[in-house]
Amino acid sequence: MCHDAAFLVVADGRGVLHCNDARLTAAQARRARHLAGGRLDLMALQTSGASWHPICYEYPAEEMAKVATDKRVSKLRAAQRLVRQTEPELAVPFAGPPCFLDDEVRHLNWVLGQKDGAFCDPEVATEWLREHLPRQRFDHFLPGDAVDLDSGEVVRDPVSAAFSFADADRPAYLERYAADRAAHIAAATAEHPEPGPGLFDRFTAHFERLGGLSDYFLRQIAMLVRFEITGPHGGVWDVDFAPDGLAVREAAPGARPHYRITTAGRWLDAVLSGRLAWEDLLISFRLSLYRDPDVYNDYLVGLLKHANAPALSAVEEYETGRDESERITVDWGGGRYDIPRYCPHAGEDLSIGAVVRNGQVHCLAHNFAFDLATGACVNARAANLTSRRVG
Ligand code: FES
Repeated sequence: MCHDAAFLVVADGRGVLHCNDARLTAAQARRARHLAGGRLDLMALQTSGASWHPICYEYPAEEMAKVATDKRVSKLRAAQRLVRQTEPELAVPFAGPPCFLDDEVRHLNWVLGQKDGAFCDPEVATEWLREHLPRQRFDHFLPGDAVDLDSGEVVRDPVSAAFSFADADRPAYLERYAADRAAHIAAATAEHPEPGPGLFDRFTAHFERLGGLSDYFLRQIAMLVRFEITGPHGGVWDVDFAPDGLAVREAAPGARPHYRITTAGRWLDAVLSGRLAWEDLLISFRLSLYRDPDVYNDYLVGLLKHANAPALSAVEEYETGRDESERITVDWGGGRYDIPRYCPHAGEDLSIGAVVRNGQVHCLAHNFAFDLATGACVNARAANLTSRRVG
């Protein structure tokens, strides 16, 4: 089950905080503990992020291994920090990892590797967290397991007890699982037939509409995005997000895209007709992505995700009207820097939700890093930090 918000249940004097998919800050988690009467009996947290990066990206093998490991470790570290700062009685890695049953995406099951996969299963996550926070109690659960919050006793479900995440057991399990779901997968595919003629025209109209929603987003995106659409009526099409407007055209030889999105016409058609949101397509992993330079563009994803004028202008208002009067000072390399207390991206409290290393402020909410000397966001196309050296 996925939630975009944490929820707190307080009943019979017990407090349970479920923060899967919620990116809770330490301050918010502590506040939840306070609301629960100063004690959290169980805290469920996400250690396996549902993200198409780096899984859907066309990285060379070596780079993929590095990016995937970084991603996995940074997710575990974030969970570790949150648990350390919240101190629940029992912390439980919850949800994930995903697995892929359909032939179109089955090759992605490498992400489940217990040593080097991008996604951590709850067994591996629990082990890692126990090692890094030895005084904290961790456990993980499978369907049907029960925990008694009064006594701490755990009763395992006998059917689930036969299940294992181990690498050696996985292929046979996935085979059985895929066979079991084959009819559902076939039905879902049948609901998305190959597109009819005129796909390029529908594509053009869709992006022209998106391009008219926000000049601010167009200016911030400022790049050429290439779509390689496979299957009937597909093609290679460029969308030029330029500050003075958006243009859609057949890809011209020699034009160098900064971003490339490859997907099947049947999925694109579902987006164009409104049956699927861009975010659904991204999270379905039924596409492959490439970017050069390898920098996340928060605005491109934001435009595709929100795709409506009021939401985009709310982001613009937030970013251009930020109150940065509350400031903090951080030290690095013998210098002192004055920076805003709240992250320019989505407002994380940097006084407790950031670390400073290598001359950069790393915001722990979404891992954007800002150069202290210039304030520039170094790993994403996103708003900058106003940083001033003061000593
Ligand atoms: S709030 Fe998202 S990176 Fe800081």
